[in-house]
Amino acid sequence: MLEITLNLREDRKDPYYMQLYRHIRQEIRSGRIPAGTRLPAIRRLAEHLQISRNTVEAAYLQLVSEGYVESRPRSGLYAVELEEIASLADMQGKQPDRHPAATNSLAANAADVPAIRYDFRNGTIDLRPFPFGVWNRLSQMTMQEHTRSLSVYGDPQGEPGLREHLAVYLRQSRGVQCSPEQIVLGAGTQQLLLLLCQLVGANRKSVAVEDPGYNGAKAVFSQLSLDMTPIPLEADGMNLERLKQSGASLVYVTPSHQFPFGMVMPVHKRVKLLQWAAEHGGLIIEDDYDSEFRYHGRPIPALQGMDTTGSVIYMGTFSKSLLSAIRISYMVLPESVLAVFRKNKADLEPTASLIHTDTLERFMAEGWWEKHLRRMKNVYQKKHAQLLSHITRYLGSQVRVIGEHTGLHIVLEVDGRRPEAELVRTAAEQGVRVYATSPYWLNPDMPQSPPRLLLGFGGLAEDELEEGVRLLGKAWG
Ligand SMILES: Cc1ncc(COP(=O)(O)O)c(C=O)c1O
Repeated sequence: MLEITLNLREDRKDPYYMQLYRHIRQEIRSGRIPAGTRLPAIRRLAEHLQISRNTVEAAYLQLVSEGYVESRPRSGLYAVELEEIASLADMQGKQPDRHPAATNSLAANAADVPAIRYDFRNGTIDLRPFPFGVWNRLSQMTMQEHTRSLSVYGDPQGEPGLREHLAVYLRQSRGVQCSPEQIVLGAGTQQLLLLLCQLVGANRKSVAVEDPGYNGAKAVFSQLSLDMTPIPLEADGMNLERLKQSGASLVYVTPSHQFPFGMVMPVHKRVKLLQWAAEHGGLIIEDDYDSEFRYHGRPIPALQGMDTTGSVIYMGTFSKSLLSAIRISYMVLPESVLAVFRKNKADLEPTASLIHTDTLERFMAEGWWEKHLRRMKNVYQKKHAQLLSHITRYLGSQVRVIGEHTGLHIVLEVDGRRPEAELVRTAAEQGVRVYATSPYWLNPDMPQSPPRLLLGFGGLAEDELEEGVRLLGKAWG
């Protein structure tokens, strides 16, 4: 039977459960814990390492929620096949519900871990309103009408028809200034970031990132061995003085809905960020991942639309607005990067499936995209409002919701007495999963006081939202 032994260090800032979780994650990633290996029971490992069961349980919960470990009925927890683990992603907070059963039934099966009934996982979306009938019809048309062209890979930039629709949409709804020729479609933001870094990489070996920030992007930068400089956040987004001091010439930002904390970068700061780029020959990667969904106030146009010097690479995704599993994302390249792309185009293959991109083009051409987006805005607006009102009712003054009224997740700041891990654990004991934000920090010395927790609400039904928050009130009351 597997034993897990590591040096748990008291002198480190990260708590024991994080140290244990990271250790096991690394062992699975490296293959030292092979797929199919059963993890030790919580009680046994706690005794072996001389730590509390809660600590082991918190580490296991994290591994399960990220898909490294799955639960098998009446048996226990097992390491997952390596191929099933997205090799680049540090999946915390990222969406793919590749092992939904694992997260939901962990406890039922693995005796000493509680069952999760309400999972506030970030990135999940509401599939109920999706027009499956329409999609199936359009997808059949793709298969019938394109029999011949389906024998090729397609345009390395992605199909021109979809890029045309997308350019119009981005201009109209996000204020992005672009032609279809500037758009590159790809199978997810990470794939596009990989490609982008290769295109601009020759003379940019370091990248500045928001701290805390999106793990999916940081995983790519780290895989490419880029030097990452963490730039702290202020109430209105990235600290630009610190960006200047960093000496970086490439920066990754989420200005319209900072991930994970949710603030919006105001216009005057956007102007300064663009000035920084112009003065330092800098390039800005703008990740506009979920700002279709803005519930209050005027829409905030993309930073790219204000750029006059070709310094912004705009990125977006259909994962939140359409279907997570479709794996279609896009980037809009400024002229300088586009020129490099064109030079290399002959050697590149498209990563977004021609079948899905063709179907999506039909979906847009027939007006379904617009209808669907309108509908989803209403659905999420309602859920967002209900979630806030349940929070007021059941959690009251012990929490503060931070971030703006945008997107599919919120962050709860919980009064400072209890550590983050304890809040996650006590919530899990009530059958509710909420997510720590400490894994999003690059700088481990950053204080987590008061603790902040991330709650994705897109995938939960209205009654589940209420029950989930009510149980949080019970857990933390
Ligand atoms: C900050 C951020 N960017 C991008 C994405 C979407 O990535 P993808 O296009 O690979 O689905 C997410 C998903 O959760 C995200 O949180």
